[in-house]
Amino acid sequence: MSPPVIRRARASDAEAFAALLGDPQVLPGLLQLPYPSIEAWRVRLADNDAPGRSDLVLVAERDGQVVGSAGLHPVGATQRRRHAMSLGLSVAPAHQRTGVGSTLMHALLDAADNWLGVLRIELTVFGDNDGAIALYRKFGFEVEGTHRAYALRAGSYVDVLAMARLHPRPPQLPS
Ligand SMILES: CC(C)(COP(=O)(O)OP(=O)(O)OC[C@H]1O[C@@H](n2cnc3c(N)ncnc32)[C@H](O)[C@@H]1OP(=O)(O)O)[C@@H](O)C(=O)NCCC(=O)NCCS
Repeated sequence: MSPPVIRRARASDAEAFAALLGDPQVLPGLLQLPYPSIEAWRVRLADNDAPGRSDLVLVAERDGQVVGSAGLHPVGATQRRRHAMSLGLSVAPAHQRTGVGSTLMHALLDAADNWLGVLRIELTVFGDNDGAIALYRKFGFEVEGTHRAYALRAGSYVDVLAMARLHPRPPQLPS
């Protein structure tokens, strides 16, 4: 398969986001609600680009089709956590294990490390999501702990791992 093309998400991707994140093989890995609304995604994606917002949401395209998405999101309103952002990642089932997730991660981590001044990236992942955990470890994320019975998934309360990556080479001010 051809290498994916990475670009910023736009409001017109709303239908693709609803389809990707609502896919029955993708949804169980996420904390999204079932039956995603295209209109809600349109508003959210437009809002991400509003002045003063610091979300960075990227998509991976193959042959003009969105086949994956990844985002960095602020973790809270307090100025004392401005150095931290949370990460989300999804790839369409037909394109998994073809490097899409890795390509999105390279792009997001380059933006975080070299352009946005993010020093800590954090995420939660279901404890049995071995593929995602393996990918995150490859990119320098470490397990910080377990949130027990964190979320309801298909009728059961399931643990998630808290993982995080600290900037490996934090930029320094010139001396
Ligand atoms: C997890 C996910 C994002 C991985 O994306 P991907 O495009 O398949 O990942 P890549 O092809 O770039 O794989 C990179 C590496 O991650 C690891 N990996 C990815 N999927 C794996 C799997 N199912 N089993 C084991 N290792 C896996 C491997 O080390 C892989 O390298 P390799 O293929 O050379 O062995 C994708 O499976 C997905 O979207 N799943 C559903 C949603 C989800 O769970 N998102 C994460 C929420 S926290």
